[in-house]
Amino acid sequence: MIRLLYISNASPAVSEEQVQDILTSARRNNPAHGITGILIHGGGLFMQVLEGPEQKVLRQYVKILDDRRHDDARILHISPANSRIFEKWSMGGIAGNPLQFQHVSDLFARRLEVVQPTTFTKTMREFAQMLNAGK
Ligand SMILES: Cc1cc2nc3c(=O)[nH]c(=O)nc-3n(C[C@H](O)[C@H](O)[C@H](O)COP(=O)(O)O)c2cc1C
Repeated sequence: MIRLLYISNASPAVSEEQVQDILTSARRNNPAHGITGILIHGGGLFMQVLEGPEQKVLRQYVKILDDRRHDDARILHISPANSRIFEKWSMGGIAGNPLQFQHVSDLFARRLEVVQPTTFTKTMREFAQMLNAGK
């Protein structure tokens, strides 16, 4: 399995209803591909974590790249994964600017740096715990 984290610019025209459509598609399609994760939308940005079998995640990511509801997707980090962090969510939806979350902004700042997979995993795990605690 792999875990991929990217951030993209939401299209200026994207509505709350369209974000719900994205989540509906994701929740319908992802279980068959063994993909779990979260999607955060706010402040003109999308941030998504996709975790699951490598080929499935990469194929879905490539498909998502073509979606006109966003552009300028940048992978923040990608790494092998032994277990799921977002296993509860076929695609969790969170409203808010992703960069307001310290864990995300730290990883954003270190984009294109060599971040050890263990560091990335730890940060994602802490982030998920924080999101869980907030529910
Ligand atoms: C930011 C973003 C994230 C998305 N995430 C997913 C996803 O996790 N799974 C998914 O199937 N589609 C996702 N989509 C939607 C796909 O681009 C595409 O519209 C959808 O897979 C089409 O499937 P459908 O014809 O079954 O609705 C996402 C789109 C955007 C803009």
